[in-house]
Amino acid sequence: MAKTDAVQLHVRERNALETPTDLDRKGVSEIAGNLRQLLADVFALYVKTKNFHWHMSGQHFRDYHLLLDEQSEQIFAMTDDIAERARKIGGTTIRSIGDIAEHQRLKDNDEELVTPGDMLAELCADNQRERHNDIATASLIETWIDQTERRTWFLAEIAPTL
Ligand SMILES: [Fe+2]
Repeated sequence: MAKTDAVQLHVRERNALETPTDLDRKGVSEIAGNLRQLLADVFALYVKTKNFHWHMSGQHFRDYHLLLDEQSEQIFAMTDDIAERARKIGGTTIRSIGDIAEHQRLKDNDEELVTPGDMLAELCADNQRERHNDIATASLIETWIDQTERRTWFLAEIAPTL
């Protein structure tokens, strides 16, 4: 390989993860950082919603079990958009479970036994917290906010009755 080809290949490899963008470096790293935390939280919320879907019990089992499955699908569907939003602006995103654990702000729940009422109340609070998370790409999150408000509404309607 000619020296100039080798140099060009090296430059291409080095720039492989750099997407053209109008944002400056600082803007990109700030937004990508926010999106990384948001994505980590969304993955944590997804796993917690599945956890409670799997470990639900009690007289309303079927309703709550199905509701949480529906919500978990909606939450999971957000992950790809968040990650790809970061890549679109030239940033990078979550790479592993370890990466999620490092960046999540939302707390896991590893308790052996959680009552249905506590499960619903906790998910309600977690969803509400996500709603307030401030990220720079506001237009993208409008749909997510709407979905999150719907999840919170459903959970809030049933949480106090238990
Ligand atoms: Fe299931």
